[in-house]
Amino acid sequence: MNGTVGIIGARDRQIEELVRSAGMRPVVVQVEDLASPRGALSSSPDVVIVDVRADRQLLTQIAAIKRRHPSMGVAIVVPALEPELMLLAMRAGVTECLAEPLTQGAIESAIGRVMVQRTAPVEGRVFAIIGAKGGVGATTIAVNFAESIARSAGETLLIDLHVATGDAAVFLGVDPRFTIVDALENTQRLDENFFRGLVMHTPSGLDLLAASVRLLATQLDPQRVRTLVDFAVRYYRAIVIDVPRTDAAALDALDAASSIFVVVNHELPTLSNAYRLVARLRQKYGSDRISLLVNRSDKHSDISLSDIEKAVNARVKHIFPSDYKPALAAANHGQPLARSSEGRLAGSFHEFVRALTAPDKPTEDTRRMFGWLTPKRSHAD
Ligand SMILES: Nc1ncnc2c1ncn2[C@@H]1O[C@H](COP(=O)(O)OP(=O)(O)OP(=O)(O)O)[C@@H](O)[C@H]1O
Ligand SMILES: [Mg+2]
Repeated sequence: MNGTVGIIGARDRQIEELVRSAGMRPVVVQVEDLASPRGALSSSPDVVIVDVRADRQLLTQIAAIKRRHPSMGVAIVVPALEPELMLLAMRAGVTECLAEPLTQGAIESAIGRVMVQRTAPVEGRVFAIIGAKGGVGATTIAVNFAESIARSAGETLLIDLHVATGDAAVFLGVDPRFTIVDALENTQRLDENFFRGLVMHTPSGLDLLAASVRLLATQLDPQRVRTLVDFAVRYYRAIVIDVPRTDAAALDALDAASSIFVVVNHELPTLSNAYRLVARLRQKYGSDRISLLVNRSDKHSDISLSDIEKAVNARVKHIFPSDYKPALAAANHGQPLARSSEGRLAGSFHEFVRALTAPDKPTEDTRRMFGWLTPKRSHAD
């Protein structure tokens, strides 16, 4: 086994030594390092062991740790497996309880089980979403995609790169104090504390670096965007960027993106824009990273999925159904659909994230959706 194990609350070095003997790296941390948004750690441990033998109060802090790091496995060390304590632990999100006497075998198997239960990381770390035409639903997808990753893998950041026109904060129902403008104007002094102060935490755990109402003093500089993304990648498992299609500098700054998704619909003007946009992106980033997301899919459209692929010369990665009322209500209430599992549009966002997590297994939803438009193919990839 390898990885880092955070240890909280231990009064001696026994756990540290057992962890080291298990081949993992122990780091002694304070609760605040993990529970508070201003925690001092540069990267979070894979697993955390909380020793509550001397201080039971530590149990009450575990929920806060899980809120900030939903995918991090938490094991606790207790004097004995009392039912009341176990119940409290379970409610707090603890995955494993270790009782005395602590042995090498017990620690190793507990850490092993916690590691296995960690959510599989998503396909890549940085995802760029670009609408091929205004109003095609790029922000809806960026927000809900990020929300869904945050739900399943934790530690996700959404960056709204529409510097002075973005509306991701509205979709998320937050009113940011600091914005992308503060980040881009201060790339030379980016450090973790400064950066964490700029991002907005949303109720689900998704972080947002929001657009501003203020214009940048100068034009958007691709190098500054690159610096910002490269910096942010160190602190998040996934970063989703809502990219303005009309800003050349933004389109030129996507080097860190492992996937670039162009959002289209079944309309010819959108597809013609998409063709030009994809050609331009392909020149800079190659074909592999670029694919299409079809929003408001319409099974009665004259233009099928394979027509879309041919017209744009790119493959379709996923399709999202049209569901006007819930989409509008979600935007108006600042409550992204993907915050819940209800409804076919919300389901489709989660399905998309699942498909990215296990790309070799076409999901039922993907199969069914691709099935009705391109009957001969089980998957558009
Ligand atoms: N799958 C969908 N079904 C129904 N309505 C949708 C869907 N996706 C988005 N919408 C609605 O379409 C409208 C435009 O969506 P959105 O703001 O996400 O588009 P956009 O591409 O980001 O626009 P802009 O070019 O202004 O940035 C919103 O009212 C949104 O609720
Ligand atoms: Mg938008």
